[in-house]
Amino acid sequence: MSIAFLNNSYTPIEEAKISPLDRGFLFGDGIYEVIPAYQGKLLGFKAHIERMNEGLEGIGLRVDWNEDDWRELCCELSRRNGDGNLGIYLQVSRGADSKRYHAFPEGLSPTVFGFTFSIPEPPVADKKIAKRYHVSSTEDLRWQRCHIKSTALLGNVLHFQEGYAQGNDETLLYNSNNELTEASACNAFIVKNGVVITPPLDNQLLPGITRNMLVDILRKDGSIEVREQVVTMDEVHSADEVWITSSTKEIGPVVSIDGKPVGDGDIGDTWLAAQALFSKHKYDY
Ligand code: PDD
Repeated sequence: MSIAFLNNSYTPIEEAKISPLDRGFLFGDGIYEVIPAYQGKLLGFKAHIERMNEGLEGIGLRVDWNEDDWRELCCELSRRNGDGNLGIYLQVSRGADSKRYHAFPEGLSPTVFGFTFSIPEPPVADKKIAKRYHVSSTEDLRWQRCHIKSTALLGNVLHFQEGYAQGNDETLLYNSNNELTEASACNAFIVKNGVVITPPLDNQLLPGITRNMLVDILRKDGSIEVREQVVTMDEVHSADEVWITSSTKEIGPVVSIDGKPVGDGDIGDTWLAAQALFSKHKYDY
């Protein structure tokens, strides 16, 4: 049985209860993180907590937890859940109010929730066994603060479902200028003539920890050029390779978009090199 953390205690997840007046439940008024942990080793922990703190500040939610408190919670959740391949989910909502009213309530204690779920083995740089991703694409109809890792994910869920209903693994999103933003639960990259390109960080996409680590790893290594610049959907469709990145996938090679092959329709050599570098350096962060 999975062990969760709620209201300052550890409890079997089936027994964890929140109030229906919790603002996370009523308004999606909260911030979350997903931190990968392999055999108790956390990946990108500091960056995840920094992003969470920025999100909390961005929505004016104060929590008295420092980095060590969060680390202790993550390690304890991993330990109590068997230290396997785990996604550690953290969520802070504005708390349980006594009424439903849009304005931020005064003096409410935030609800802090954590649990774990199984994630696949991290991918290895091996074309023979790597998972190939098939994706849909659609116009990004989410809100204009996608840089905040809000628990209000209905826009993302609807976009994910569009791809899923078409038998695909993800949905690539583009804005009204036909420019790639990200995917419903991943960041996105293209490769053209050996150059790796990903959209620049702004309000249209989440500053993904995997994205940021990958850009940094590639820059430090220097053998593959990487650029953060606007990517049009025409460039996506004529790319040699397309990747999606997230904490639970690392670098996922996309082999088809809306049923049409990406490049030669199989995993490319730049993915192989990038995933090898990512695997080598991912614990440096
Ligand atoms: N999703 N973009 C969106 C919209 C996301 O939801 C995610 C992560 C990412 C990748 O971010 P990171 O590399 O920090 O995981 C990009 C998580 C895993 C989720 O919601 O389950």
